[in-house]
Parts: sequence; C-alpha cells; structure tokens
Amino acid sequence: MKDGQAAPGAPQPDPSPAGHDMSRRQLIKHSGWFGAAVVLTVTGGEVISHIAHDKDNTTAAAAATATNELRFVQISDSHIGFTGPANTDVTASFTEAIAQVNSLPFRPDFVMHTGDLTHLSTPAQFDQVRQMLGGLRTGRTFTVPGEHDSVDDAGRAYRKAFGDGTTGQGWYSFDTHGVHFIALVNTLSLEKLGHLGAEQIDFVRKDVAGLKSDTPIVVFSHIPLFAMYPAWGWGTDDALQVLALLKRFASVTCLNGHVHQLFSKTEGNVTFHSATTTAYPLPAPGHGPAPVPQVVPAGHLKAALGIRTVTYTQKHQALAVTDQELA
Ligand SMILES: [Fe+2]
Ligand SMILES: [Fe+2]
Repeated sequence: MKDGQAAPGAPQPDPSPAGHDMSRRQLIKHSGWFGAAVVLTVTGGEVISHIAHDKDNTTAAAAATATNELRFVQISDSHIGFTGPANTDVTASFTEAIAQVNSLPFRPDFVMHTGDLTHLSTPAQFDQVRQMLGGLRTGRTFTVPGEHDSVDDAGRAYRKAFGDGTTGQGWYSFDTHGVHFIALVNTLSLEKLGHLGAEQIDFVRKDVAGLKSDTPIVVFSHIPLFAMYPAWGWGTDDALQVLALLKRFASVTCLNGHVHQLFSKTEGNVTFHSATTTAYPLPAPGHGPAPVPQVVPAGHLKAALGIRTVTYTQKHQALAVTDQELA
C-alpha cells in the first residue's frame, strides 16, 4: 500500500458474525478511494432504493445498531482535475461529498469509489484523490478504475496508486457480513471501453465457485454491466458471461458509475444501480449527440450530484440502496 492511501487511523476490521470478515490484508491493500457517494442497504439479498432524508438515516442508524447491519457508501466520478463550466470547482464538490459521508449518522463499514477518480490520470491527480479519500470517516476505502483513470496507459498509473493487493489488472473480491463483493475493471482500453476480457471472467468463475447460492453478491464496476446506452459506451460487451456465472445466486446487486446519473433496473435475480457523480451531470441516454458535461442553471448543480449508502441486514435477504443529493 502506498503512503497516504489508507484513511488515517483506520481501525482493524470488525469480525462479522458469519466469519466472512474482510481480511486485514485485503483491507490494507484496498484502503484509499472515493467519488460520488451512495448509501446501499443489503437486507438478505435484495436492494431497496429510495431518496434519503435525515429522518430515514437516523432510523437506519438505530436499526443498524440493533441488528448488526452492514452499511457502506458508494461515491463515483469525482473527476479531480476537470475544468469547465459544468463544474468550476470539482475539488470543492468532492470535498463536500466527503463531508456529507462523514456527517452520516453512522460510520460506514467501507466506502467504494466506482471510478473516474481523476479526469486525466496524472500522478498529481491520483495523489490528490488519495489524500482526499484519506479524510473519509470509515475504516476502509476501495476503488475501481474509470476510463479517465486509464488515459494513455491502460491503467498503469491507477494501479500504481490504488492497485496494491488486486489481481490481474486491478480486479479483486472480498467478503464481509455474509456478503460477497466483486470489484471488476471494464475500462482497460480506451479503444475497447466496456470490456472485461477472458482472464477477468475466469477470475469471477473461480471466485464464486465455492459460494453457497444464498450468498448475497454485490458487483462493483465503473461502466454498467447492463446495456444502458451502448452507443455512448454505456454498456459492457461481455458482461453476460459474468452474469451467467452469477445466475444461481438468489440476490445479485451491480453498482456502477460512469453515467453520472441515477438509474436502476431489475432483471431476474440481478438489480443494477447506476450512481450519480460528485463532479458534473451528463445527459440522459440518447439526449443529445454525445455524453458531454451538462451545464445546469445556477444553484442546481448540487441536486445533480450526490452520494449513495447501502445497508444489509444478515437475517433478511435484501440490500437497501439510498441515494442522497449533495447537501
Ligand atoms: Fe465519469
Ligand atoms: Fe467514466
């Protein structure tokens, strides 16, 4: 792990009742990343999505204390280094997102940043993101790369900054609170966006082989694993091969970034949730000639940005996903 990657004073992981606690090695290696935040709740295998209010969070916090819930945060697409009228200060927006995570009425078990941490993959941008993620009030931070973290080098600078402990070209998995998490990389080539490749699919095959079918599965990736709008690169061409490997599981939740807007859909045992961004909105699928940063009227930007929280209670079989606008 690189200096500055872990949250300062990060505690050791709490053992989960089911013995699926994240290993110390996994935690250390993956500590250190963020973007737009989302809170998700897993309650026995299904994800429930709704807009969060303080009142709800307070209720959730009280329930979590009583039931040993897993609570984590997803943030995405911080695009540190972006300059343009769609957001003239993405660093300030990301700082506000981190502050919003830190002001949640509970301390998330971990925070996952689903990519486009930086805008142009420069060492200075990666270093800035790593330092900012270190300010999160959580024991563990995780990342997956976006295509903006793979500019000109197929992700090498990203992996140098955030890839310790990962497998292959940056993918990995971990378990906690009885949930199995898989973090995938589908941004390795700017010429072939939305692609996993045979090596990574084989990793998933072996990774889930020994799991019971009632194990809740959560998959993180930057680009959606469903065809949200392939003409804009909003899909993964070989995702069906991974989803086929996950078909036997009762509950699969796929959480992605990249599209800079909320979107959810369910197909059989799989629910997909696209997260919003902490940087700037993109148009709705097909609205306009290209997915370029959208300038919104003054005072409306924060409503397009946000964080997500997710909660899971072991005795139930559903994940609850809560999206919050940037306060
Ligand atoms: Fe992005
Ligand atoms: Fe992206």
